[in-house]
Amino acid sequence: MAGGIHFSGYLHGGDYNPEQWLDNPEILEKDIELFQKAGINEVTMGVFSWAVLEPREGEYDLEWMRRIIDRLYENGIRVILATPTGARPKWMADRYPEVLRVNDRGQRDYFGQRHNHCNSSPVFREKVRRIDRKLSEAFGRHPGVIAWHLSNELAGCAHDCFCPLCQEKFREYLREKYGTIEALNKAWATTFWSHTYNDFDQIEAPSSIGEPGLHALNLDWRRFVTESTADFIRVETEAIREGGSDLPTTINLMYDFRPLNYHKLAETVDFISWDNYPSWHKKEEALTALDAGMQHDIMRSLKKEPFLLMESCPSATNWQPVSKLKKPGMLAAASLQAVAHGSDSVLYFQLRQSRGASEKFHGAVIDHYGGEDTRVLQEVARVGNALRAIRETAGAQTAARAAVLFDWENRWAMEDAAGPRNQGLFYKETVEKSWQAFRKMGLNVDVIDMTQPLDDYQVVAMPMLYMFRDEYENKVRAFVEQGGTVIMTYWSGIVDDTDLCFLEGTPHGLMDVLGLRSTEIDGLYDWEKNTALPVSGNPLGIGKTYTCNHLCELVSVKGAQVLMTYAEDFYAGLPALTVNRWGRGKAYYVCADFEQAFYDDIYSRIAGEAGLHGLLETVPEGVEVTSRQTSEKEYLFIQNFRRTPVTINLPEGKLLLDAAIAAGRECPEENLRSERGERIIEPLETLVLARIIPH
Ligand code: GAL
Ligand code: ZN
Repeated sequence: MAGGIHFSGYLHGGDYNPEQWLDNPEILEKDIELFQKAGINEVTMGVFSWAVLEPREGEYDLEWMRRIIDRLYENGIRVILATPTGARPKWMADRYPEVLRVNDRGQRDYFGQRHNHCNSSPVFREKVRRIDRKLSEAFGRHPGVIAWHLSNELAGCAHDCFCPLCQEKFREYLREKYGTIEALNKAWATTFWSHTYNDFDQIEAPSSIGEPGLHALNLDWRRFVTESTADFIRVETEAIREGGSDLPTTINLMYDFRPLNYHKLAETVDFISWDNYPSWHKKEEALTALDAGMQHDIMRSLKKEPFLLMESCPSATNWQPVSKLKKPGMLAAASLQAVAHGSDSVLYFQLRQSRGASEKFHGAVIDHYGGEDTRVLQEVARVGNALRAIRETAGAQTAARAAVLFDWENRWAMEDAAGPRNQGLFYKETVEKSWQAFRKMGLNVDVIDMTQPLDDYQVVAMPMLYMFRDEYENKVRAFVEQGGTVIMTYWSGIVDDTDLCFLEGTPHGLMDVLGLRSTEIDGLYDWEKNTALPVSGNPLGIGKTYTCNHLCELVSVKGAQVLMTYAEDFYAGLPALTVNRWGRGKAYYVCADFEQAFYDDIYSRIAGEAGLHGLLETVPEGVEVTSRQTSEKEYLFIQNFRRTPVTINLPEGKLLLDAAIAAGRECPEENLRSERGERIIEPLETLVLARIIPH
């Protein structure tokens, strides 16, 4: 893993809260026994245990934790230790109300919930420092402790803090960023509606009862909230280092989480981890798998290193509208999907179900009944078997030559802007269409933001890159000049870093590279659509027509070759898809929001033309193929998320995992079967095939 972080083999375990069972010491012994049976080799401890660790201000009790860590260690179970700062003790809120958040109407929250502290508060930071230092001194060098889990799901389920302290910090952030108020006024376009500021002291955070609509203010506020969260992570990290521990740190990130720019937070930790709770069986599993797959790729791409699946539900998730059980085999398939996309762990929330409060009905490895003869424990054991069988693949990297841009700041800006379609721009869905098109042809795909280099890729899709920040156009230009293929879409290169519209034509700075200028964009009503027709003899060999809706851009071509044209409306005959040769590369431009079939067909032609080949010759619908590799071997993961068996033509290789192995047959290296040719894969089955990379 990152920076040489290796946990030797896969971690299999999850959140464990033995502090809820201190009055019943037998529980720990029973749990350890069941952990062994289920192949659990890790527990994540300490999440939310502050009130037990520091029951009264300055009075610490860490002995119970030491006892438990020792006992787990004696039994070969490693601990990821969490700082308890995801929730605070009541005494702290009572004595220092400043630790409680204030909403955008100026009201301070009462005590309760979690993840909702004012993390600017000096008192809160001091309390955090002390408890973290204590934990680090006590356990940071314990041989059973392997990493730090800082706080929990930062900002999850909580509003931003708008207290006077945070407002003051925001103004400092702006002073630092802009230097003079004139510079800020210019960048924010405050002459509009007479919102000009005379001084930084006058600035207030965005508010529903104040200024909600100054887009650049909103954008800088989100950047500030991200930065102050990053700063808070640094406080925790420093405290841990001061306590004498140099173990790697992580934060557990969340699904499609907009409020914080995860690329910035990623810089503050040693490795990435995230919590994955798909609603399996709500739709066809193959659709849910696509959704989860892209999230895994986003997480892996943050550092372009293996990550940890920090939480996932072994059974039914009680906060979802319907608590659906996972059908037999679903847990293994979902868990191995994380691994296939680069996870070095399968960790659950939670290992033992709590007895009371709001998560008493959340699925757990050990339920209230507490026996080993439960269906869920058997399913968990099956995951344990699978992870043992593919042990050698842990730590292997993902090599991708195709990437899709998905940029947080771009999303904030675009979704806040008024127009061109306030009832839905579908940024995430559009990114997904590109990602899915590459994935369906069997490519590994990175999902990166504008700060990341493009050098590793041959083809990069840049859907709806509304904002070009840090002069992104130069990066794109250099990439194409050096032989890369770019696929850009409508609504790109419209504004700069502070949401000021570019003058003199868009896509800004790339009109020569793309060979066109965008002139207008048409928002379509939900019921409207247009169609695109192939231009006969087009070099991609496109023969079909495709529909588009939501947004249709009109472009005026200057040099680009037109591959498809609109069929309807007053812009019938205008370009809908173009390509331009530039330097040693090519720049494609997709003018409208097309149906998935367009992306699937066109992207595979473009990627093929650029020399990319899928990991399998053909990938049947609903099958996921990914690979991980070391310097010697490539590991192919093939998963069937369909509801029917599928036949796959396997390349030559040795099988590390199939259904029988997952069900418990051990698979020592010397017994590995050599595979090649047709093979049936059952629904929810995963195959892992090892191939030697020729040198
Ligand atoms: C996560 C959270 C856990 C637990 C879990 C339940 O978001 O980090 O503490 O609440 O959800 O699914
Ligand atoms: Zn605050």
